[in-house]
Amino acid sequence: MIVRADLAVAGPGGAGYERRVSTPRLLAVSDLHVRYSDNRAIVDGLRPGTDQDWLIVAGDVAEQVADVEWALRLLRDRFARVIWVPGNHELWSRAKDPVSLRGEPRYRHLVAMCRSIDVLTPEDDFPVWDGPGGPATVAPLFLLYDYTFLPTGAATSEQGLDIAIKAGVVCTDEHLLHPDPHPDRASWCAARVRESARRLASRDPQLPTVLVNHWPLTRLPTRVLRHPEFALWCGTVATADWHRRYRAVAVVYGHLHIPRVTWEDGVPFVEASLGYPREWQLRERRDGVAVADLLPRQVLPIPER
Ligand SMILES: [Fe+2]
Ligand SMILES: [Fe+2]
Repeated sequence: MIVRADLAVAGPGGAGYERRVSTPRLLAVSDLHVRYSDNRAIVDGLRPGTDQDWLIVAGDVAEQVADVEWALRLLRDRFARVIWVPGNHELWSRAKDPVSLRGEPRYRHLVAMCRSIDVLTPEDDFPVWDGPGGPATVAPLFLLYDYTFLPTGAATSEQGLDIAIKAGVVCTDEHLLHPDPHPDRASWCAARVRESARRLASRDPQLPTVLVNHWPLTRLPTRVLRHPEFALWCGTVATADWHRRYRAVAVVYGHLHIPRVTWEDGVPFVEASLGYPREWQLRERRDGVAVADLLPRQVLPIPER
């Protein structure tokens, strides 16, 4: 059941915000896309409000592994804990990247890099946020998508893809995000969903969770896409009830580049993206608010609406 959906942001920006605050917070950003120099400048300005703040980085840091490492290392030097999940862009295999790995080996390489700089990943023990708004298990997930967010008129994924292709909408992942050794991306997604469900079920059932995934866990956030066919590359219906099943107090995601908070069953779904310069610079002109004042977004304690 949808309780509420709005365009409010849960960030620390806005009137009266002070960069240094008195209580620790669980914060989030996503889609930093540091390939762009304007975005690198924004990342360079990201700072915690206290020495105990944690930062979730919900994917699409960059395409090249060296760029991902640059951003995560910088943030890890500043925040008490950094938690990363992969986006589709980290998983792209492009000719210009010295790291030529594809699919699962590429993901494992990124996990190893994160471990070398003390950044948590979906492969590590889920940490417990004990600060204000906690305790809550923070669960970084890597779930991918499986072409089940179907466009109108489609009954199957094949029909959905057919409709998308005819509309001229095809995600670049089709060319650059290889599923090796899985037969296809939907199979890789199914394996990730099984493994993630197993790990979530093994956690303390008394504790609520903060679920983190690059792609939205539910279909609702994709309803405002300019090209609705793009939803095929945005998630899986297999996680539609995970915020209820796993006792979420908040869900963090990115990928859509539509930063906002929607509410489902009383749970805030926080889209924490920066996005491409042309996108956030347009929003700055439209809203009169500097993007640097909106990031990172506060997850816990849950900001007042
Ligand atoms: Fe992105
Ligand atoms: Fe993405």
